Amino acid sequence: MHVTKVAGAAFGIDIELEWLDYGADNYLKTGVGLPDGAQERLRDDFDAIYLGALGDPRIPDMAHGKEILLGLRFGLDLFVNHRPVKLLDESLCPLKDCTVEDIDFVCFRENTEGAYVGIGGIFKQGTADEVAIQEDINTRKGVERIIRHAFEYAREHGRKSVVMSDKSNVLRYGHDLWQRVFAEVREEYQDIESWHLFVDALTMQMVKNPAQFEVIVTCNMFGDIITDLGAQLQGGLGVASSANINPHTGAALFEPVHGSAPKYAGKNIANPFGAILSAQMMVEHLGLAEAGGLIERAVVDCIEDKETPKEIGGELGTREVGDAVCRRMKEMA
Ligand code: IPM
Ligand code: MN
Repeated sequence: MHVTKVAGAAFGIDIELEWLDYGADNYLKTGVGLPDGAQERLRDDFDAIYLGALGDPRIPDMAHGKEILLGLRFGLDLFVNHRPVKLLDESLCPLKDCTVEDIDFVCFRENTEGAYVGIGGIFKQGTADEVAIQEDINTRKGVERIIRHAFEYAREHGRKSVVMSDKSNVLRYGHDLWQRVFAEVREEYQDIESWHLFVDALTMQMVKNPAQFEVIVTCNMFGDIITDLGAQLQGGLGVASSANINPHTGAALFEPVHGSAPKYAGKNIANPFGAILSAQMMVEHLGLAEAGGLIERAVVDCIEDKETPKEIGGELGTREVGDAVCRRMKEMA
């Protein structure tokens, strides 16, 4: 959060932050992830929400995490999960001979539907006849708004292509809807090249030739999976950033793609770049594009000069990396 402050200050803007302690400790004490009224307050009183990593071994089913994260995604109707896949330095890429030009695309994951809605049930639990049903919800409105967002984004940001990915060869109803909506919407965006890939083929292509992608749009579950793959392409979960937004209402929640990595907790060794780059997305969302650019440049310079955490080959602790990013921002500003 220090980075957010410094980035704003560099342009004479005081970004006011309020810390809300809705973590695992609070859940264990109170039994609720988000207290009554919290969601409304988050919606009405703030320009953006920044969420730290969730997950705590004392809560094995991650009930608090789901309540907070999925609760806000659904409750605030944050239907766009925007996850950039951008290689900031060649040294971070696990693929051989990949340059920073080769890996620079954006994934748009539908964020309010699919298998995530939690509709289903278990019948005859614990018996040999047990049946488990998990429904996959796809609505015309939901599918259309995320596909449209992908095309709009491509147009606005000078991206030349959109790839829609589904599994319509098997999910003959749910993803047939994706096919039909995609065919309709792409008609309206003939200036943008667009094509379709089944999700299995997409994962292969992301590794084989990531340079072909500029914008990818897919459903909630596939988006979850491919963005972990995307995270590795840019240096691991520790550097991957994300935004959950509703472009119609302006509601927005920013979070690193990674979880809380309990084995690193409190040891000052976690990689802070994913969190810092999520702050970059947040300040850009707040209209401070230059401040966002400053954060990114500082991160790139840190990586280049090996002012990095151990996870990606450096020597610094989490806090020291954050300090290095802030110092560089101040020097550049
Ligand atoms: C993510 C996470 C979440 C998800 C979990 C923690 C519920 O993996 O944001 O990618 O599946 O969406
Ligand atoms: Mn995930």
